[in-house]
Amino acid sequence: MGETTIPGYGYGNAAPSPVSVEELGLLKASVLFGPEDEAALRRAGEVLADQVEEILDVWYAFVGANPQLLAEFSTPDGKPITPYLERVRARFGQWIRDTCTRPYDEAWLAYQEEIAERHTPAKKNTADGVASVPYVPLRYLIALIYPITATVRDFLARGDRPAEEVDAMHEAWRKSVIMQVALWSRPYAPDTW
Ligand code: HEM
Repeated sequence: MGETTIPGYGYGNAAPSPVSVEELGLLKASVLFGPEDEAALRRAGEVLADQVEEILDVWYAFVGANPQLLAEFSTPDGKPITPYLERVRARFGQWIRDTCTRPYDEAWLAYQEEIAERHTPAKKNTADGVASVPYVPLRYLIALIYPITATVRDFLARGDRPAEEVDAMHEAWRKSVIMQVALWSRPYAPDTW
């Protein structure tokens, strides 16, 4: 699916992030994310490109098997909203590609802030016009770093690349996901003191 046809996907249209490119540099340094990680992510993007739907199958099975996660895609009285799950799934697939291939610049930071807000009462449910619960608890965002990282390893290993390269791609992915969730914590925990 071309990115422009993904319902609710707003890369390039998001308001500027309150986080500057300079502050992003400091966050990168804090998570030991360097040019070699960028290069490893580009390679990961090539390996994962044809496997995105399979990765999403794994992640969605995981969410579906965990009522505390399925609840965030459901009505307040607990009925899963299938069109919501499907629409977000397409954006999630694009996020895998974006994580590997986009430059981490102002536009990327702007969409990071948009994704953050889409997990909070500021914007959750608005892109899809659904009547779901108002936010995703921050503790689950942090917890999901583990499964979202652990599960990509097998997919990275399928690329017939040497083990050291698989490790490098996996570590770069891990750092990027940690960095993104750190950015997504901003609306939950702004620097206001
Ligand atoms: C490492 C953790 C997580 C990652 C990488 C992640 C990633 C994403 C992405 C890429 C999107 C779509 C952004 C867009 O609109 O373009 C999204 C939306 C969403 N995520 Fe997460 N997410 C994480 C944690 C969670 C958790 C723990 C839940 C709880 C079940 C969750 C529930 C949702 C929901 C409900 C949406 C749709 C929000 C809306 O209404 O627009 N996410 N997430």
